[in-house]
Amino acid sequence: MTIWFDFNEDWLFDGERLVCLPHNAMDLPFHYFDEKAYQRTFSYEKRFSVPEAWRGQEITLHVEAAMADARVFLNDTLICRHPDGYTPFEVSLTAGLVAGENRITIVVDGTENPAIPPFGGQIDYLTYAGIYREVWIKVAAPVSVGGVKIETPSQTALTAHVSLANPRGLDLDGVIVARLVGPDGPVAQMSTPVQADTAVVCFDALTDVQLWDLETPVLYRLELELETPHGRDELVQRFGFRTLRFDTDGFRLNGRKIKLVGLNRHQSFPYVGYALGREAQRRDAEILKRDLRINIVRTSHYPQSRHFLDACDELGLLVFEEIPGWQHIGDADWKSASVDNLRAMIRRDWNHPSIVLWGVRINESQDDHEFYAQTNRVARDLDPTRPTAGVRYITHSECLEDVFAFNDFFLGQEEFNPARPRQPLRSQREVTGLEHDLPYLVTEFNGHMYPTKVFDQEQRQAEHVLRHLSVLDAAFRDPSFAGAIGWCAFDYNTHKDFGSGDRICHHGVMDMFREPKFAAHVYASQSDPDQGAVLVPVTYWSRGERNMGGVLPLIILTNCDEVCLQLPGADPLWFRPDRDTFGHLPHPPVIIRAEDVERGGIGVWGMSWGGAEFTGFVAGQAVVSRCFAADPLPTRTEIVADALSIRAGASLRVIARVLDQAGNKLPFFMDPMSITVEGAATLLGPDIVPCRGGSVGFWLRATGPGHVRVAVETARLGVATTTIEVL
Ligand code: GAL
Repeated sequence: MTIWFDFNEDWLFDGERLVCLPHNAMDLPFHYFDEKAYQRTFSYEKRFSVPEAWRGQEITLHVEAAMADARVFLNDTLICRHPDGYTPFEVSLTAGLVAGENRITIVVDGTENPAIPPFGGQIDYLTYAGIYREVWIKVAAPVSVGGVKIETPSQTALTAHVSLANPRGLDLDGVIVARLVGPDGPVAQMSTPVQADTAVVCFDALTDVQLWDLETPVLYRLELELETPHGRDELVQRFGFRTLRFDTDGFRLNGRKIKLVGLNRHQSFPYVGYALGREAQRRDAEILKRDLRINIVRTSHYPQSRHFLDACDELGLLVFEEIPGWQHIGDADWKSASVDNLRAMIRRDWNHPSIVLWGVRINESQDDHEFYAQTNRVARDLDPTRPTAGVRYITHSECLEDVFAFNDFFLGQEEFNPARPRQPLRSQREVTGLEHDLPYLVTEFNGHMYPTKVFDQEQRQAEHVLRHLSVLDAAFRDPSFAGAIGWCAFDYNTHKDFGSGDRICHHGVMDMFREPKFAAHVYASQSDPDQGAVLVPVTYWSRGERNMGGVLPLIILTNCDEVCLQLPGADPLWFRPDRDTFGHLPHPPVIIRAEDVERGGIGVWGMSWGGAEFTGFVAGQAVVSRCFAADPLPTRTEIVADALSIRAGASLRVIARVLDQAGNKLPFFMDPMSITVEGAATLLGPDIVPCRGGSVGFWLRATGPGHVRVAVETARLGVATTTIEVL
């Protein structure tokens, strides 16, 4: 039976100190740093002895990811090189293990080596060095189940392509017992004789299969039991039944048409780069699905953590996954490395029902017929069940993929070229240059066209909101668009060549701590109110924040049918969603314009000013309200951890917000906050930080078990605490 041993503790890092994996080789400040700091080699060394029980077994080292170029030594002998920072690799240790102590050394080179994708040109993100995902020792019988690819050609059938690991080339004469287990228990079982290193197991005429869908992401399990004269083995693989199609009139999941609305995600975090494990990865998926309520995420621009993808499977969040790269295509060896990346990505991830597209083109690269004919061929051979896409920003580009994917940064260009109309998206025929439609998806918009910081002026935030609304409205309007995926979910650290000079691209609808900017609520406001009513007036409610003062025009992001505004001593004012401006959105915002309130009189610069209460109504019932204070003052610090109990080794996000009397964040509060973590966890990052946009965020790593007391303190508000249990 294959056993996976957790191999993440006690690595001697650079000969200096013991560390746990996932690990970031060089932590960085929040911003303004030199990204060359981590572009060198680092070493990780682990000593271990071989238990008696491993004798006669196959022993494999499995590394989930190491950036950017890893060399593995066993007892000083080089046994493997893996020049790709995003895909897993395995190397057999069996032949090199000795009695007594053994030593594995992994040397990672964080240099941006132009021979390795994505390097060779410039890239707008960082590739933090280190062994930033988990490492395992796999102990298996001489013949074991190496892997399985599960295809569900219909709702009643399943084909599993099983590959056996048989490194000694032993004669096989065995049997595979396959059990299909659904959410309500066992569904079917069958036995298949096996004489070669591969076997195909088919189930057909299945009944009552429950489909994996956005609202009901039902998962099944295929349990494989292998019996050969060389031992027994078992492998359990999760998957889902669902169909998908991209047509010229949009995308269908299980035959139901769905407009794809999503965001791009980089997998980076402040200070520790890529090196946050399972919980933080899963939390990002939850934020995208539950808080932003989008239906698709693009893993720009590389394969992301399996924990993130597992969570997407469980939550019902679709995924567009792509190979590493950014605009640059290298020489023949580079291209062949890129094809290897593609193979590794598909092999790792083909059983995730959430994945609906393979990105087989280097993001925003030029056409390259031979290269992309090959990547498409490889993807289709490996996985005939999913369409390919390739993201470009050039128009009239050769489409070798099943879906034409385009980064449309048209909106905003009118500022630089007044002859251009303000137009949210180009038509697909203008982009493709064809006389007919293709399956078509917008894979980026906004981003660098309108960078917006979490603490930027209200007026800029309102324009940021309008741009996200306008593009989504245009995507909903045109039935030939499968959807639109915005740039991007979270702000991210980047190279000096990009961003605001502070090594940050402030392109997210959330900041790096995953705190929302107003534009985040554009996405949630498109969900049905039965998922939770949304009511977010795009304002800090003050007289003098906007140019010329006042808060009008005021956009209210909402999925309510009607919004009531109550000003002190005035009659209530009623407003409906603005279908004239944003008629294609499922839930257009309410927009209050100066002419709408003449009688009610929302104050402006120099006039008297009161508080406000907004109430949202659905089907005549008040379902949500938001109050604003006339004279906001720091009143209390709210401290929220993503969970109240965690496992040892897990990372956990904590956010502390400075709130006013009405419970709203004070967006311009910038006092320093000191953070204290006592007990079974350590703080990742500095312990004195400024409030940014009215909050601070940080991650803890649990060292547990035991209690953790987290305290944040400001001079004006004193201490706020929370307690977390490490199990
Ligand atoms: C795109 C690119 C993204 C990001 C974005 C910023 O061109 O694909 O990675 O740089 O611009 O808006």
